[in-house]
Amino acid sequence: MKGGFFITFEGIDGSGKTTQSRLLATLLRDYGQDVLHTREPGGSEGAEDIRRLLVEGDPNRWSPETEILLFTAARRDHLERTIRPALEADQVVICDRFADSTRVYQGAARAELRTTVDRLHDLMIAKEPDLTFIIDMDPEIALGRGLARHSGEDRFEDMGLGFQEKLREGFLGLAKQFPDRCHVIDGNQSPASVSGEIQTVVEQWLS
Ligand code: TYD
Repeated sequence: MKGGFFITFEGIDGSGKTTQSRLLATLLRDYGQDVLHTREPGGSEGAEDIRRLLVEGDPNRWSPETEILLFTAARRDHLERTIRPALEADQVVICDRFADSTRVYQGAARAELRTTVDRLHDLMIAKEPDLTFIIDMDPEIALGRGLARHSGEDRFEDMGLGFQEKLREGFLGLAKQFPDRCHVIDGNQSPASVSGEIQTVVEQWLS
């Protein structure tokens, strides 16, 4: 199998997408793939610097508009320095969050700014994944898990349960908008069942 595929994981905070994206990376490496596992915001030196501005501190630290600019700046650096070179070297890139997070967090949940998000995306990013897994979870359970981590990166978790519920709706809406690449996986199951479902989709897609 030739590489050069771009796979993303999306979902509300605490949905388990980081665990699942790592499990998929391990599986594909076992199949002999050259895999790059990366994340957003972050994934390059400059984007990791921008990450700290975004995920730490007071929930009102930035307006939704400023957030769109910061997330897009981080994504542009990540794309230029990490994602594009890896895809050109035929690696499989697995990314924990990408542009769908901006569409939902800043474009639908924080404010209704989807048109702004889309325009900036077309101008500065213009890249979509080949395959996207949306891990769908009960927002109350996911929020409890996320906050229990005490990661110091709780700016979005601190926006509360109503915000997480809006995010969930947003991700489900996105799956309908991009049905060819988006696969909604029920995250309320055991991690092994979730990864089994993901494996089945990836194997079908590769064949
Ligand atoms: P992440 O590290 O994936 O957090 P978690 O593991 O808790 O899901 O992402 C950090 C936060 O940034 C998360 O709350 C979602 C938010 N975010 C946006 O609001 N917009 C974006 O475009 C991205 C990539 C993340």
